[in-house]
Amino acid sequence: MFKTVEYIKGKVRLIDQTKLPLEEVYITCDTYKDVARAIKVMQVRGAPAIGVTAAMGIALGVGGITVKNYNKFYEKFSKICDHLSSTRPTAVNLFWAIERIKSIANKNKNKPVEFIKKAIEKEALKIWKEDILINKAMGMYGQKLIKDGDNVLTHCNAGALATAGEYGTALGVVKVAHEKGKRIKVYVDETRPFLQGARLTAWELLKEGIPVMLITDNMAGYLMGKGKIDKIIVGADRIAANGDTANKIGTYSLSILAKEHGIPFYIAAPLSTIDVKIQEGSKIPIEERNPQEVTHLNGKRIAPDGVEVSNPAFDVTPHKYISAIITEKGIITPPFAERIRKLKNST
Ligand code: MRU
Repeated sequence: MFKTVEYIKGKVRLIDQTKLPLEEVYITCDTYKDVARAIKVMQVRGAPAIGVTAAMGIALGVGGITVKNYNKFYEKFSKICDHLSSTRPTAVNLFWAIERIKSIANKNKNKPVEFIKKAIEKEALKIWKEDILINKAMGMYGQKLIKDGDNVLTHCNAGALATAGEYGTALGVVKVAHEKGKRIKVYVDETRPFLQGARLTAWELLKEGIPVMLITDNMAGYLMGKGKIDKIIVGADRIAANGDTANKIGTYSLSILAKEHGIPFYIAAPLSTIDVKIQEGSKIPIEERNPQEVTHLNGKRIAPDGVEVSNPAFDVTPHKYISAIITEKGIITPPFAERIRKLKNST
């Protein structure tokens, strides 16, 4: 089994997702700046994985702080947190994990700096371990929605590669259903422009021995019209208080197609992906990425030089198109706002 992210002897080790599926290589980040860069260039990606990796990056970063005075320590610590925060704007798990680490520093401000550094490292590892358990719990709840013989469509990669490892969110649901003996086929959108579906999801599912059918993004509607898709399950980068969900670009169109064809449309995401500070989807910051991701394939230009390019990495699916949100504490069905608030408050 591959390891998405690990903390080994004060360093962060990642499977380089930009090289998959052609090469299975690992990179070691020696500094927090290396970690930030790996997140930015998407050597590690996927909302929960970004959060876990950033937490480890902070642990690595504070390891290099030598001052003994708390205020001086906090100044350097804040700089590390800010640097990691600036990598990707949409996935709230990044900010959630950084806030969690900050609260450890604040809680222990009267303790020696060496103690705080250890406590931060411990918390980062706790976030990592918890994420694996959360994904399994999500899978256990979510698999109840899957029937034997279902054809499930997914978009982007919401598997082990997008989380701390092992299960994943949307793919966690599929994997647990498969473990329970349900025969499922997964239709995987290639997910232009970064091809997380073709490169990562197809690779993960093949490794798990789960039947997979790769399609290009524009084939999804045709297949739905032909009755080939029973369910759609995707992950999320940020869910607003009313259930509106930001996920990989293309998710919104899928949700409308699903509605038109009467196909259930599920989001699988940990509670840490729900940002109750944001009331509705239009307020979620959407990352605009390098135009080269659109104009080039594998480093080779495919569009004319000088063409204007738009490359939003995410879109927002209005909650009215979502049938249910699968979390580690249970499945939330509409009306979302009240139920989300209750579940978030219960944790
Ligand atoms: O740009 P990416 O690859 O980080 O985007 C990832 C997604 O959109 C995933 O669907 C989302 O983070 C959920 S991952 C469990």
